Amino acid sequence: MSRPTVSFAKFAVPDAGVLVVFLAEDLALSPTAAAFDAKIGGTLARAVAKAAFKAKPFTTLDVVAPAGTELDRVILVGLGDPAKLTEKDWARLGGAVTAKLVEVKASAATVVVERADGAAVTAEEAADIGLGIRLRGWSFDAYKSKKKDDDAEPKTLKATLAVENPSAAKKAWGAREAVADGSDLTRDLICEPANVLGTEEFAKKAEKLEKLGVEVEVLGEKELKKAGWNALLGVAQGSKRPPRVVIMRWNGGEKDAAPIAFVGKGVVFDSGGISIKPAAGMEDMKGDMGGAAVVTGLMHALAARKAKVNVVGAIGLVENMPDAGAQRPGDIVTSLSGQTIEVINTDAEGRLVLCDVLWHVKEEIKPAFIVDLATLTGAILVALGKLNGGLFANDDTLANRITAAGLATGETVWRMPLSPDYDKLIDSTWADMKNTGGRDAGSITAAQFLKRFVGDVPWAHLDIAGTAMGSPATELNKGWTSGWGVRLLDRLVADHYEGK
Ligand code: BES
Ligand code: MN
Ligand code: ZN
Repeated sequence: MSRPTVSFAKFAVPDAGVLVVFLAEDLALSPTAAAFDAKIGGTLARAVAKAAFKAKPFTTLDVVAPAGTELDRVILVGLGDPAKLTEKDWARLGGAVTAKLVEVKASAATVVVERADGAAVTAEEAADIGLGIRLRGWSFDAYKSKKKDDDAEPKTLKATLAVENPSAAKKAWGAREAVADGSDLTRDLICEPANVLGTEEFAKKAEKLEKLGVEVEVLGEKELKKAGWNALLGVAQGSKRPPRVVIMRWNGGEKDAAPIAFVGKGVVFDSGGISIKPAAGMEDMKGDMGGAAVVTGLMHALAARKAKVNVVGAIGLVENMPDAGAQRPGDIVTSLSGQTIEVINTDAEGRLVLCDVLWHVKEEIKPAFIVDLATLTGAILVALGKLNGGLFANDDTLANRITAAGLATGETVWRMPLSPDYDKLIDSTWADMKNTGGRDAGSITAAQFLKRFVGDVPWAHLDIAGTAMGSPATELNKGWTSGWGVRLLDRLVADHYEGK
């Protein structure tokens, strides 16, 4: 299915097609649905009773060809207690609607957006439903050859949200649509296999943001060599794919305001290099550019909604491969910062890529703060699983703002420690530091490594090895990748950095 379309119309119950209405846990239909049901002789109330439907949040009951109507079906969606629904729940509700519509192969539906307790659904909440409808409608089937006709999904899903004030809802929808588009881009990039999406191909995708008014600069191998990005180049040297660094700039804020910066790890495939990974699950390492994909999708979202902020997105794109020319354990590289690094394990490559990008951003862009995202360590998966991103920061305000944005959007983070005692674990006998600190505290020593390249700039590091991929299916997401981070950081920007 191509992405669903969301539109808003004046409140009404259609005569034909598919109708979606909400039901509260006390089994009260929304006022409009209740009036409609009275008119058709209580068909819906009977269906609810006979199916023993409890209207738990995000559950659905499908009433096919209800008597007394010309409708194909009425889908009842449980709200639980409507007074308890938060912003992210309205989105989940929208997601549940899409999931059900796809399941029953509907290509269009009217959703009557009305709380069952009669209280008004705000324009923002209606738009959040739209966001959920869009997010759950994303799928990646570019490489599935055609299905048999009889089980083909409809090509499109047109969702019309019937609301009290369509123009207000439409206005609120604009920004959500931008975020949905950004999230779709992130997920497409993460899913794309590495034989198709190499470093150059990724850079080309980023260049497409120029259409939205983003300035995109691509640094190639020659420039990187000349400037001395040796830590990043060391990772890239075992691959046929040349490294790329992409700098994306969106200038939506005051002319002289320092930009905020987002940095992403873009390892298009991580075999481990000479310290090669075991075979099981290695295919998932096509998603090791997840940080770069989030930064790119975020830049898309911010530009598409014309965010009033100056923002720079910087991504380091390399492939980590074993080869006769590949970097070896024991090699010592001089990073762009001048600090030297002993490469203990070529599979700890993400920090080698990020350290040069972070240093470049700090020195050349002079941002107000930096947030980096990276599928950096398996250890963060051990610590937090797939349900929280690992947050490390040298600045409490930034950390607290990210934490709050996580709670609002549902893309939650958990803060992890940094301290000089952990930092000692990466001191090296031969160089200024080594690229691994052993098994213990693996995510923390990785973060300590990055910290050595940001100086005094307020900085937060999100280790997204657990959240970028292998994601569980939820109301908002069919599975494997949710685009985690796009909504979180869009929210961070919207809440604090757009000088309203
Ligand atoms: N890309 C991996 C981390 C990863 C693991 C991401 C699982 C997603 C799922 C990273 O480059 C890596 O290999 N890290 C090593 C570091 C170690 C060698 C110090 C790890 O976590 O094992
Ligand atoms: Mn690795
Ligand atoms: Zn990696």
